[in-house]
Amino acid sequence: MMGLLTLLLLCLSLLVSFSGADISVKVGVCYGQLGNNLRSPSKSVELIKSLRAKRVKLYDANPQILKALKGTDLQVSIMVPNQLLPNISTNQSLADDWVHTNVFPFFPQVKIRYLLVGNEILSSSDNTTIHSLVPAMRRIQTSIKSHNFHKIKVGTPLAMDVLESSFPPSNGTFRSDISGPVMEPLLQFLNRTKSFFFLDLYPFFPWSSDPTHIKLEYALLMAKNITYTDPGTGLTYTNLLDQMLDSVIFAMKRIGFPDLRLFIAETGWPNGGDIDQIGVNIYNAATYNRNVIKKVTAKPPVGTPARPGAVIPTFIFALYNENQKGGPGTERHFGLLYPNGSNVYQIDLSGETPELEFKPLPKPTNNEPYKGKIWCVVSRGRRANVTELGSALAYACGQGNRTCDPIQPGGKCYNPNSLVRHASYAFSSYWTQFRNAGGTCFFNGLARQTTKDPNLVMERNLETGR
Ligand SMILES: *[C@@H]1O[C@H](CO)[C@@H](O)[C@H](O)[C@H]1NC(C)=O
Ligand SMILES: *[C@@H]1O[C@H](CO)[C@@H](O)[C@H](O)[C@H]1NC(C)=O
Ligand SMILES: *[C@@H]1O[C@H](CO)[C@@H](O)[C@H](O)[C@H]1NC(C)=O
Ligand SMILES: *[C@@H]1O[C@H](CO)[C@@H](O)[C@H](O)[C@H]1NC(C)=O
Ligand SMILES: *[C@@H]1O[C@H](CO)[C@@H](O)[C@H](O)[C@H]1NC(C)=O
Ligand SMILES: *[C@@H]1O[C@H](CO)[C@@H](O)[C@H](O)[C@H]1NC(C)=O
Ligand SMILES: *[C@@H]1O[C@H](CO)[C@@H](O)[C@H](O)[C@H]1NC(C)=O
Ligand SMILES: *[C@@H]1O[C@H](CO)[C@@H](O)[C@H](O)[C@H]1NC(C)=O
Ligand SMILES: *[C@@H]1O[C@H](CO)[C@@H](O)[C@H](O)[C@H]1NC(C)=O
Repeated sequence: MMGLLTLLLLCLSLLVSFSGADISVKVGVCYGQLGNNLRSPSKSVELIKSLRAKRVKLYDANPQILKALKGTDLQVSIMVPNQLLPNISTNQSLADDWVHTNVFPFFPQVKIRYLLVGNEILSSSDNTTIHSLVPAMRRIQTSIKSHNFHKIKVGTPLAMDVLESSFPPSNGTFRSDISGPVMEPLLQFLNRTKSFFFLDLYPFFPWSSDPTHIKLEYALLMAKNITYTDPGTGLTYTNLLDQMLDSVIFAMKRIGFPDLRLFIAETGWPNGGDIDQIGVNIYNAATYNRNVIKKVTAKPPVGTPARPGAVIPTFIFALYNENQKGGPGTERHFGLLYPNGSNVYQIDLSGETPELEFKPLPKPTNNEPYKGKIWCVVSRGRRANVTELGSALAYACGQGNRTCDPIQPGGKCYNPNSLVRHASYAFSSYWTQFRNAGGTCFFNGLARQTTKDPNLVMERNLETGR
């Protein structure tokens, strides 16, 4: 009898450790849809499977996509839009309605496992939304429970800006404006419901803002001989990702939640971007993502210096390059795939393909800052939409100081009087004044950076009569 019991316990513990190991190999992909040229939901689901992703994260609860996911083995994460949080936080029937409309018709045929409430809410400057976060999560949790959807964890993805200090990692501290009022109740909720701290983290950003002090190899998880030892703990780091993860672990520990599990809700590296952006290329993107996948799928799990052996479930950002995202060029170049569905580079989210089987990558050419002159000009020339170009011109001219004086009638750049010429002048003038303050050369896709002096190009075109 005793022997049988021991055997049973042994089998049970084997089962448990087996399923524990199983979670480590599940890398997913973020299916962002901010593009006007992306493949259909059903084709996209096929592509996600062909990347050998085991999970997919949506930024809403798009019913066409959920329909396409029916019957697949993909574990799915859906999201409550930010703008609904204030109302949901005070209205249980609204929370119930949301769950009833967006989860009920699809669960369990769609393996919905994570319900994320808002996206990077604590990066917002809107206090109403910030303070509605935890109450909204509680109401969504109540709805999930009353529908008996036990397999679904409720969480919320946060960015690294929830920390006011992240270096050295042992100094990790949440921002003082949110630490007591939001982070404590949030971590309490996540701990009580056995959910995760969902974190969006991009070593690309700290590296690209300080590429002289942070080595690129260290950010790409490929450093062989670069280490950093945290003087507070004596822990030794071999890559920037671990440092960032541990700074969050130490911040949680500081307010009494040392054991809450981390879930990387987004990570990635841009495969392209603007001319003045450093290190944005296919080589680095492929290297970073492949190394992250190798790290988080390692068996046994490697964890981080502060949590050796921990399983870190991970979503790679993103499925596609998305042409309708604003901001700098990198924002539109995080895809594993081009919008037409072809690979930007080879990648296997299961982590099973040995690196040597991948084709050689194009050598990077922009790992040093670009030192030449850059202009911001109209991107589509004569094919640009005249109405849109006119409004963008008016907008640019309305910003800054005397931005468009030279293209007013009588000004020294007035002739030749063409909308495209004037808009190129206005974009360059705007961008010169605002780029250091975060202004971008984009204008909804109407503008692009160039290293060719637009004045010379113009003269040449006049000469050749084009
Ligand atoms: C929130 O509720 C108010 C009052 O019921 C309503 O006017 C508003 O449109 C709602 N907001 C959203 C985003 O649904
Ligand atoms: C709560 O939400 C429901 C919709 O589910 C709406 O009918 C009701 O008016 C809302 N209550 C308040 C107080 O806004
Ligand atoms: C630790 O973080 C605090 C802010 O929370 C900062 O003032 C201090 O300089 C940091 N310590 C080190 C050694 O960087
Ligand atoms: C938002 O909250 C912060 C910290 O609690 C406070 O300093 C700030 O004044 C608030 N802003 C508004 C607009 O209420
Ligand atoms: C977190 O959850 C664990 C296990 O459920 C519990 O033992 C612990 O007391 C909780 N921590 C806090 C700070 O509530
Ligand atoms: C570290 O390795 C790189 C090549 O991977 C080499 O260029 C560099 O000199 C090495 N640095 C040290 C301190 O050994
Ligand atoms: C898909 O788009 C990429 C990038 O624009 C292009 O290089 C590739 O040829 C396209 N593939 C197909 C099959 O059209
Ligand atoms: C130009 O843009 C405007 C506003 O977005 C749109 O209504 C119009 O259809 C566009 N015209 C063309 C020719 O695409
Ligand atoms: C415009 O001029 C004012 C006063 O000279 C200056 O304070 C401001 O920074 C200028 N703005 C820009 C965008 O250059």
